[in-house]
Amino acid sequence: MCVVHNETSTGVTSDIAGVRRAIDAAGHPALLMVDTISSLGSIDFRHDAWGVDVTVGGSQKGLMLPPGLSFNAVGPRALEASRSARLPRAYWGWDEILAANEKGFWPSTPATNLLYGLSEALDMLLEEGLDNVFARHRRHAEATRCAVRAWGLELLCSNPAEYSDSLTAVVMPTDASGKHHDADAFRRVVLEHFNMSLGTGLSKLAGWVFRIGHLGDFNDLMLAGTLAGVEMGLELAGVPHRRGGVQAALEHLTQTARRPLARAA
Ligand SMILES: Cc1ncc(COP(=O)(O)O)c(C=O)c1O
Repeated sequence: MCVVHNETSTGVTSDIAGVRRAIDAAGHPALLMVDTISSLGSIDFRHDAWGVDVTVGGSQKGLMLPPGLSFNAVGPRALEASRSARLPRAYWGWDEILAANEKGFWPSTPATNLLYGLSEALDMLLEEGLDNVFARHRRHAEATRCAVRAWGLELLCSNPAEYSDSLTAVVMPTDASGKHHDADAFRRVVLEHFNMSLGTGLSKLAGWVFRIGHLGDFNDLMLAGTLAGVEMGLELAGVPHRRGGVQAALEHLTQTARRPLARAA
């Protein structure tokens, strides 16, 4: 069974431990594979504790690197299944990589530049502390949602327990005929005026949803700038909204700001 931990097109997270419990309750032998591409390093994820068999991650989001690296965490049941499976394959055949890794090598030419970047990215995450990293993402996500609510716009994710902390998908308001204002025309205005690229609505969300990313090496002022670009873009593109989204976000950020560090004497 393959589940996406943080669904990047909708801004919805899934309860992975709950999926594992449901598989176990049904007594089903299926392996559980989880896509953590837009959650790894941004939202808490527990491969072992949640009983995940294969976790897939990528370099390009919370790990703050360009695209190009992908990671598999493989549990014992998945390794066993891979060893006994008779289906010819290369993609999920881990033996060659594991054998080379034992000696500190890689079976093909590694993306050395990205691995140097990864080492630095991991240092950055560990210096901040993973709990702090996750709390920072949660706080920025909540501030973003404060802005969206203040604008009078709708969050695509309707279940608060499943809100994504790495991105927020926003529904464009409708006009008198019930038609959504054009999300891509709005995104174009924001890009042209502020050189800021918002995420587009994908697949059946195309044209009526846009996405605000708030993950990775991101701080309060970057979020404030992002939300300011959205608010000015709504105005310039003639999208009906209430003012004050940025202010609402700033209030959340201020109220939840960490205590100032004590000054050295
Ligand atoms: C959750 C998720 N899964 C899969 C992918 C696809 O990754 P890639 O484009 O590296 O194949 C993405 C996008 O980067 C994603 O956000």
